[in-house]
Amino acid sequence: MADMRTTDSVTAWSQYWSAGRLSSCPGAADNNYSGVIAAAWEAFFATIAAPAELLDIACGNGALLALAQEHARAVGKRWQLTGVDRAAVAPAAGLSDADISLQHGIDMHALPFADHSFVMVCSQFGIEYGHFPDNLTEALRVLKPQGRFQFLLHCADSAIASRAELQLQQIDLLLEQWALFGLLQQMLHDEPEPQRFQLAKQRFDHAAASAFAYLKANRSQHDVSLIEQSLQQLGGIWQSRGQQSSADALQACADAAVAVASLRQRLLDQQAAVLDQAQAENWQQLARQLVGHAELSLLQQRGRALGWCLTGGNQTLSAS
Ligand SMILES: C[S@@+](CC[C@H](N)C(=O)[O-])C[C@H]1O[C@@H](n2cnc3c(N)ncnc32)[C@H](O)[C@@H]1O
Repeated sequence: MADMRTTDSVTAWSQYWSAGRLSSCPGAADNNYSGVIAAAWEAFFATIAAPAELLDIACGNGALLALAQEHARAVGKRWQLTGVDRAAVAPAAGLSDADISLQHGIDMHALPFADHSFVMVCSQFGIEYGHFPDNLTEALRVLKPQGRFQFLLHCADSAIASRAELQLQQIDLLLEQWALFGLLQQMLHDEPEPQRFQLAKQRFDHAAASAFAYLKANRSQHDVSLIEQSLQQLGGIWQSRGQQSSADALQACADAAVAVASLRQRLLDQQAAVLDQAQAENWQQLARQLVGHAELSLLQQRGRALGWCLTGGNQTLSAS
């Protein structure tokens, strides 16, 4: 049987965005594109006079571009909005506009734009997925001399980072320790042969019992929804044998495992992207060397870190 447990980063993100999502950290900070995050962008956008071009690096399906478009429309500015991402991305619903261009298959370390192309260069939980310092140097290369940049960056102490750590532990249980997806596949595969089936069923039941014991022990302390959903999904596949062929059930099981492996890859990418204070200060220092001004602040929500906000340009920010 093929190894369902690994997938590469571009595939993982492409699968994620292909479902039409707008946000990349669902549930991590209660709709993280409103509240504090939206306010940080609003403050940044307010400093830019029309007309202007904006580049969003590692844009996903355009969550940040949607905020920029909303702002520009509200104040009657005409902005040209460009998003780039290495993965296959597509404008989320409501973003199909002549002023918006989303380009996929673009590596942030080699942006296909001339020097000084954009008044605004931005990124929201995106640029830090690349390699420092090349990612920052390349981003600021395309900033116009009078342009401004703002990057929201993952913070090592954030709720988003803690949630990723917990989910990665749970994924290891699901895919490695309990191996529930593989064991269900084995059961489906062996169903026509009673003796082999009994053995496979015993192994699956044993693993499922461990999963239920985990839920009982941990439910009151932290979010166990990933494990609950996986168990429900596996139960649904097993129950569906009457309505679909065993080949279809096997495929459904393989697809479910791939989806979890894809989540694992995205979470690993996120873990590699988080910045502690010293790293964030390195970004600030380099940005200052490259363009003059850069201010670093920590965005917080309900007393917890949400992310770093690095903002600046050739001149200090002031509303124009
Ligand atoms: C957390 S998501 C971005 C979310 C998006 N900015 C938003 O606000 O919804 C991180 C993105 O970085 C992209 N990415 C990772 N490495 C990249 C690279 N080297 N060049 C371009 N994009 C990259 C991934 O494909 C993914 O879409």
